[in-house]
Amino acid sequence: MDLADIRDDLKEELLTEAQLHERLEEIAREIERDYEGRDVLLVGVLRGAVMVMADLARSLKKHVEMDWMAVSSYGSGTVSSGVVRILKDLDTDLTNRHVLIVEDIIDSGLTLSWLRQNLVSRGAASVEICTMLRKPDALKVEVDVKYCGFDIPNEFVIGYGLDYAEKYRNLRGVGILAPHVYQ
Ligand code: IMP
Ligand code: MG
Repeated sequence: MDLADIRDDLKEELLTEAQLHERLEEIAREIERDYEGRDVLLVGVLRGAVMVMADLARSLKKHVEMDWMAVSSYGSGTVSSGVVRILKDLDTDLTNRHVLIVEDIIDSGLTLSWLRQNLVSRGAASVEICTMLRKPDALKVEVDVKYCGFDIPNEFVIGYGLDYAEKYRNLRGVGILAPHVYQ
């Protein structure tokens, strides 16, 4: 789906597919440079990071492994609870691995700060974070993010993997959800 297909559900179109792809190419070059001579394990956080992972992994001109975790976030609401629970764990042993967490969005930062600590405690050689979107106003905890696609306003966004009640994940772009949809 394109943003134009759900225009009535949007308050604003934020990022087009082309803008997302262009930024991911830049990030891919940074990752190639930073991880030269090192193997990387990309850890995607289900389900939102599926699109970022698919596009980032293909943009990288180096071999990478991919694994997935699912952690609980907000159910179908629009406000972060801070409660993190592992719903699906990794299949990969992290001992001495260079891990790059791939995320769709950092909102409060609660999920990622917890996740990073969790992966570090498994003996990874390094754990860094790559997120497509970040809401700076919403950060409740400091999270050291190595790669960030775009800083966006503190509003509820959908598309490119991000959902509202499991809808809109298959949008090519990112938009701000119109309040009438969730009120
Ligand atoms: P946190 O508040 O940083 O812990 O964000 C937890 C998770 O909430 C993210 O990984 C997203 O899956 C989801 N999330 C946060 N903000 C949004 C949003 O604006 N739209 C859709 N999902 C969001
Ligand atoms: Mg997520």
